[in-house]
Amino acid sequence: MRYIIANWKANKNYNEASSWLDFFITKINASQPVLEAIRSKKIKIILCPPSPLLFILRSKSEALHLFKSGAQDVSAFDEGSFTGEIPAHSLEGLAEYVIIGHSERRALFQEKTDLLAKKVRQALKYGLKPVYCVKNEDDPVPDGVAVLAYEPPSAIGTGENASVKEATKMRAKLNLRLPYVYGGSVDYKNIKSYLEAEEIDGFLIGKASLSPHSFFEVILQSVI
Ligand code: PGA
Repeated sequence: MRYIIANWKANKNYNEASSWLDFFITKINASQPVLEAIRSKKIKIILCPPSPLLFILRSKSEALHLFKSGAQDVSAFDEGSFTGEIPAHSLEGLAEYVIIGHSERRALFQEKTDLLAKKVRQALKYGLKPVYCVKNEDDPVPDGVAVLAYEPPSAIGTGENASVKEATKMRAKLNLRLPYVYGGSVDYKNIKSYLEAEEIDGFLIGKASLSPHSFFEVILQSVI
């Protein structure tokens, strides 16, 4: 099974997210190969919008069998007096997955291993599946992670995607029996090369997920 995870990062408002979804759902419903890949669990599509927009995904009830939803972060605190935080409890019923440890969180918000381990614990407590990002084998991976994402910072948003060789080598170095996805400037043009590597179980996709056209193309490339 191949994970195809869209990370919209801090982009889109209500209207933009709604039209993205409407277009995307129409395209999928018109594509027999994609529908069949979803039905047979050859692919799993996970959409990670900003948390305030997660409910829009749930509102497309006729399309819920087509994708799963994920948050891009979660609080290290349980529910309580933590104004502004997004506790795992508040994501119950809205998200099935949560990205934790993205390099932007680590670099811009100084998130360190201890804090990230607490986030993973909170996610697990409330039944969310952590998609845990590492930059290399030096980042410790907490217990309970559901999907491991290798994202070299030099490849994120730069157009300088890591080679297939580098991505497969990193899986060996990480040496964990977890689904392993690569992220960093993946698009519909370069995705084919990774698909040939059986060590790579999917992709975490930023920029190429912002347009429903390009994200659909990524998905199409991975099923044909
Ligand atoms: P990118 O982002 O596809 O724009 O490089 C990937 C990510 O940061 O998850």
